[in-house]
Amino acid sequence: MQSNMPAQAYIDEAWFGRERDLLFKPLWQFIGLKVMLDKNNAFIKRTLFGIPVVVQNFHGELRAFENICPHRQNPIQVQPHGVRPLFCSYHGWSFDSEGGTRIPHEDALFRFAPEERACIRLRRFALEVVGNLVFVNLSADPLPIKRQFGAAMLASLAASSAAFDGEVIMTTYDGRFNWKLAYENLRDEHHPRYLHARTLYQEVRFEASIDECGVEALRRQREQGIGDRERALALLRSFSGGGRDAPMQAAPNERWHSNVERYRDQDWYYNWLVFPNLHIASADGGHSFIVEHHVPVGPGRTEFMVYFVTAKKKRPYSASAAVLHAHMMGADKVLREDIDVMEQIQQTLYEGARPAHLGDYEFVNAGIEHWYLNLMEGSFAL
Ligand code: FES
Ligand SMILES: [Fe+2]
Repeated sequence: MQSNMPAQAYIDEAWFGRERDLLFKPLWQFIGLKVMLDKNNAFIKRTLFGIPVVVQNFHGELRAFENICPHRQNPIQVQPHGVRPLFCSYHGWSFDSEGGTRIPHEDALFRFAPEERACIRLRRFALEVVGNLVFVNLSADPLPIKRQFGAAMLASLAASSAAFDGEVIMTTYDGRFNWKLAYENLRDEHHPRYLHARTLYQEVRFEASIDECGVEALRRQREQGIGDRERALALLRSFSGGGRDAPMQAAPNERWHSNVERYRDQDWYYNWLVFPNLHIASADGGHSFIVEHHVPVGPGRTEFMVYFVTAKKKRPYSASAAVLHAHMMGADKVLREDIDVMEQIQQTLYEGARPAHLGDYEFVNAGIEHWYLNLMEGSFAL
């Protein structure tokens, strides 16, 4: 079937700005792992679609704020994560869990009028914790998170991520591709047979197939249009899902596996696709996990942040850092295969390039595309 996605959707700055306003601002976005925020004053700093955000632990309470000092707009936290009070190093202003500001030398040097002083506080964002996953919402009137993911998906994310250990390593790839290429790639079960033939496909035989009910639902969706916001939200919830994906070719068998509390006990590849830009998987039957966050930076740039974690340790063991490192090096081969293709596609696209031709097996991506284009054209708002 013919895709309707114009090349501009992947390369155009103005299109990217509309995506930020219509899709990302209203939606809950992943920002980091709760295990990285488990101490008083622990923080995570990220830029989500151009907006600087900090999540800070205040004596066990997690709060999300815009990471901009209200004095001279210096970023308050500078490192991507760490343990440090919410304190601006430029002129020493500090901030409490409500976003209130303590200003040294306030009377002597600043003399704000009471009405101005009342406005000097941090902009706060809504925050939700799902198991080990921390989400923020940049809207002033956030959609309840259940309406974005649905109760079953939230329960599955909570249960699987609760199995994560506290020792985490992460890396970031500076992806020269549009973020949508990543969700399309992840929902394409046919490519591993070719692109990952010598890596992931050796361990897991992903089988693409045509789901006649899915194809029929897509046909109806295209015929009838999206309809109202309720229907648009129901479709949105259907874009995220997860759990067991495909059986492993051989039972996972590493010496360190006996050191962790395995998530479930099945020799399957687990896969959680969290629309729009988060992916969690376990390629060793629940002994370890990879969390991929595709952070849009520009139409042709995506910060590809990847976390590696094992299931919870039964007790500390000396090789745990080496295990995470080996996990990262193994995943790097597969990730680079995908990133190389996405970068090649990005370089190939130009304004006016002809759209793609999707097979019926790609009905999921076709359904998302149809919904997404309706959102961009203003047929509904989130
Ligand atoms: S810019 Fe932050 S205290 Fe001055
Ligand atoms: Fe892939």
